[in-house]
Amino acid sequence: MTSYLSIFQTNTMKIISKVLIFVFFGYSFTNVSAVNKGSFAKYKDAKQPTEVRVNDLLMKMTIEEKLGQLNMPALENNDEAMHSDLMKGKISAFCVVRPYPLSVKMRNELQTLAVEKSRLGIPVIFAFDVIHGYKTIFPTPLALSASWDTELAKNTAQIAACEASVSGIDLTFSPMVDVARDPRWGRISEGSGEDVLMNRRFGKAMVEGYQGADLTAKYSMGACVKHFVGYGAAMGGRDYQFTELSERALRETYLPPFQECVNAGAVSIMSAFNDISGLPAAANSFTLDQVLRKEWGFKGFVVSDWKAIDQLKAHGIAETDQQAANAALSAGNDMEMKTQCYNTLAKEVNGKRFSEKIIDEAVKRVLRIKFKLGLFENPYTIEGEESISQLSHENRALARKAARESMVLLKNSDLLPIKENSGRITLLGEWANNKDVIGWWTGNGDKKDVVTVFDGLSQNLPKGVEISFSAEPQTLNSKTVIVCVGESGNMFGENHCRSEITLPWGQTEQIKQLKESGHKVIVVIFNGRPLVLTEIEKYADAILLAWHPGTEAGNALADVLFGITNPSGHVTTTFPKKSGQIPLFYSDRTSGRPGYNSYLDVDAEPLYPFGFGLSYTSFSYSNMVLSKKLISKNESFNVSINVSNTGNVTGKEVVQLYMHQKVATITQTKKKLIDFQKIELKPGETQTVTFMVSPDELAILDKNLKSVIESGDFDIWIGKNSHDEAQHEIVTVK
Ligand code: BGC
Repeated sequence: MTSYLSIFQTNTMKIISKVLIFVFFGYSFTNVSAVNKGSFAKYKDAKQPTEVRVNDLLMKMTIEEKLGQLNMPALENNDEAMHSDLMKGKISAFCVVRPYPLSVKMRNELQTLAVEKSRLGIPVIFAFDVIHGYKTIFPTPLALSASWDTELAKNTAQIAACEASVSGIDLTFSPMVDVARDPRWGRISEGSGEDVLMNRRFGKAMVEGYQGADLTAKYSMGACVKHFVGYGAAMGGRDYQFTELSERALRETYLPPFQECVNAGAVSIMSAFNDISGLPAAANSFTLDQVLRKEWGFKGFVVSDWKAIDQLKAHGIAETDQQAANAALSAGNDMEMKTQCYNTLAKEVNGKRFSEKIIDEAVKRVLRIKFKLGLFENPYTIEGEESISQLSHENRALARKAARESMVLLKNSDLLPIKENSGRITLLGEWANNKDVIGWWTGNGDKKDVVTVFDGLSQNLPKGVEISFSAEPQTLNSKTVIVCVGESGNMFGENHCRSEITLPWGQTEQIKQLKESGHKVIVVIFNGRPLVLTEIEKYADAILLAWHPGTEAGNALADVLFGITNPSGHVTTTFPKKSGQIPLFYSDRTSGRPGYNSYLDVDAEPLYPFGFGLSYTSFSYSNMVLSKKLISKNESFNVSINVSNTGNVTGKEVVQLYMHQKVATITQTKKKLIDFQKIELKPGETQTVTFMVSPDELAILDKNLKSVIESGDFDIWIGKNSHDEAQHEIVTVK
């Protein structure tokens, strides 16, 4: 009885809904704005479940409107053709580009065309590269990772989201979680360095910071994680080059940071420019469909990188726009940035050469995120809030903190910190009074807001210290000099790769001359990438890496140089002795002839290993204890150590936990960072640091790429950097 009734009801429902669809479409084609205003448009009803809204909307869309939802042109002008496209529902999102100014007023006007003048009123997403700050610029991502402070990174992302969202930005093309092991590649500056765990942890923190707990909240924005996948492995460190990446390399090294961001709820992923062993990332069904969607369950949308769909022709896997569009969309790349190949698919669908179902799935993924961002309920941005929320005292304070926490002390022959009554010090070098310290991607930041080194030091001088700025090194009249050297903001970043990663423009020679003329030389380096500092190490009495620290550069530097803050940054990439050693990273695989993997003219050791960084105090490690030395598979254990501050000032230490499986069915990396903690200790204080090691950390991918735990012995080290092996224990898995 029940089943008859339900069949009857289902059939009746079908008939009714068919009649309704007929009535709706008949009506909508005679009166386009009626859909927009129609009270029966379920997709406009915020109380309906998202899936109901998405399906309701999709049902009403023409093929052109569907393809419109997969189109992200660049916002480079504001002309009638674009207005007309908005009104026809042919634009889903804008890639806002600098220097084209986007005012809130203009954003709302454009949004009005989409929301109020188009047939279905689907709001547009405004996306922008907010990479390390919007108006208040924080240290570059590589610099920030040197803080080893993920909470700090999250806070910077929160502020960036707040400043950007009041300016009308809904989505940022960040974080970049490309593991990068070739410092010649300019974009190494945009991620968290060479290590998988660092990119995982910082990626997650940034996603959480941008998106907050509720994406519809006023000060949050969506995160588009990039570049999926393998972009950091560009051959020879040259941008956009192909990559040769085995599935093992992808799964062990390049994919995990993305998975972490997906698990953290990132709403979007950007596919990469590069080819992955023969199949470009933008048309790669293995990474986009198999891994991202089927294995990880990613529910957001994938957008291509800039012109990357059109460039499938240059890659040589498509001859025409249709072929490029077909390859990318069928592989799982939902939205096309900048170019318009996807538009050619309308004809293909009508000619039954391309399945509309594939388009529908992609459109649904885009619409779900638009609902999730709350754009249908709140498509507009309130005007006039930028001035209150941007570059505020609090935001600048956070930028100052982030900059000083990122700085890394590489050498110190008792010259730093500069104490009271140190007398006259001369400041010189290209970066002594230079505002070019905010990196490559600078959001909507303005160099005019930057505190230079000279201003920062002058405004924060200790008693009895005088700073004079000299553009002419010949006229020096002090024993101690601070030489500010580095790379300009356009010597790294996208398509800014270098074959030699030494200091440019004779800056090394300048440091040498200063030393040889009898000065005490403090070198401060403003760099975007790891550099070869072998010569500098010889001549400098102290070396401080400042990176491109952002808007508060000078003040943060004063904090560190004058000892208000004790430096605690540790590098997250290896610093080689010579460019010819590249790629050089701590976690390479074991080889059959250990100790022979070197060169005739240089060994295979770095100048500064991954994880290295000094302090104004010293730390000692003792009493490493494992809670269990013999464990079964799937059993966790604790490892603890006592860390003591053996110096005279309070300082922060990054305690790093590494692991290596001695014998396994697959060769393993010599060392793998599995956890870290940043702690603060007063002089004389000792703290016991405890790590819990879960079975996940011991798992490897076997020969079938299945995650397994193999029994055997595991080396466990706790150290100050990846080369510190003094504290070592072995745990055995039965
Ligand atoms: C870059 C992306 C960036 C995009 C939009 C591309 O050239 O590779 O990282 O998000 O442009 O600006």
